[in-house]
Amino acid sequence: MKVKKVVIPAAGLGTRFLPSTKAQPKEMLNIFDKPSIQYIVEEAVNAGIEDILIILGRDKKSIEDHFDKSYELEDKLKEKGNKKLLEGIEEISNLGNIHYIRQKEPLGLGHAIYCAKSFVGNEPFAVILGDDIVKSKKPCIQQLIEKYEELDSTIIGVQEVDRKDVNKYGIVKGKKLSDRLYKVEDLVEKPKIEEAPSNVAIIGRYVISPTIFDILENTEPGAGNEIQLTDGLKELSKIEDVYSYIFEGKRYDVGNKFGFLQATVEFALEDEELGKAFNEYLKNIIK
Ligand code: UTP
Repeated sequence: MKVKKVVIPAAGLGTRFLPSTKAQPKEMLNIFDKPSIQYIVEEAVNAGIEDILIILGRDKKSIEDHFDKSYELEDKLKEKGNKKLLEGIEEISNLGNIHYIRQKEPLGLGHAIYCAKSFVGNEPFAVILGDDIVKSKKPCIQQLIEKYEELDSTIIGVQEVDRKDVNKYGIVKGKKLSDRLYKVEDLVEKPKIEEAPSNVAIIGRYVISPTIFDILENTEPGAGNEIQLTDGLKELSKIEDVYSYIFEGKRYDVGNKFGFLQATVEFALEDEELGKAFNEYLKNIIK
C-alpha cells in the first residue's frame, strides 16, 4: 500500500533546551538559517508525501504561523524588490498540505502518535521526529517508505550508536536479513547500558502499519512514565512483521545541545555565501 501521510510529533516540552524553550517550541529553534521543523517538513515533501500532520502542544502557535502565508511580509518584500527572499518565504507556505492537531497533555511519544488516529485512518503512515535531522542523498524517510512498499510491513529507521549512549534511545534487537535490513525480535526504550540487547538505536524515522493505533490505545506508561511508541512497536512485532533498516545518511541529534551545535556549524560551513568566511573564522579562533 502506498504511503501518503506523515505525522510529525512536536508537542514535547523541550526541557533540554530550557530556558530557550520556555515560551517557544524547540522545533522553532534555528539551525543555521531556518527552524529545525522546516528541515523535517522539507524531508517529507522531498520524499513525495502529500499530507503532513504536525502534532502541537501548548505554546506552539509559532509553528502554524511559520508555515502559513504571510501577506504583509510578502508585500513588503515585493515593494523592496527583494526577489530572492520573497521566493524563499513563498516556498515555505507552499510546502505540502499541512494539518495540525493538539496533544492536550505531553503524555509521551506513543500518546502523541495515537492523537493522529483519525487523520491516518486505515493506511500505513510515516513518522519523522524533529530531534533528528538526516543529511542524505535520498531523503531518509523515502528510503524507509520504499522498503515499506517492498515488504508491506512496519519499518523502523536505525543506526548504530556508542554503547555508552544506549540508555538514551529505543534499542532494537534484530536478525540480519541483508546488508541494512533486520527483522525485529525485541525492542526496549532507554535500557540500562548493561541490559541493552544491542547498540542499534531508533533514530526518529518510522513507517508504521495502522494496527499500531489499537495497540497504543491500551499501552501503559513505560520509561520516564510516558506512553512510549517503542513499547507499542514491541507489541506490534508480536502480531505483525516489523523490520529495522540502517538508513544511509549523516544524522544530527539536534534534540541535545551538542548535536544542535554540530548541525549549526556544519550547515553554516556548507553555505555558499558564508561558508568560506566562516571556515576562516573558525580556523583563526581555534588555534
Ligand atoms: P523527547 O523525548 O525528545 O521529548 O520527544 P521533548 O519533551 O521534546 O524534549 P526533552 O527531552 O524534554 O528535551 C521526542 C519527540 O516526541 C515529541 C517531541 O516533540 C519530540 O519530537 N513528543 C514527546 C510529543 O509530541 N509528545 C510528547 O508527549 C512527548
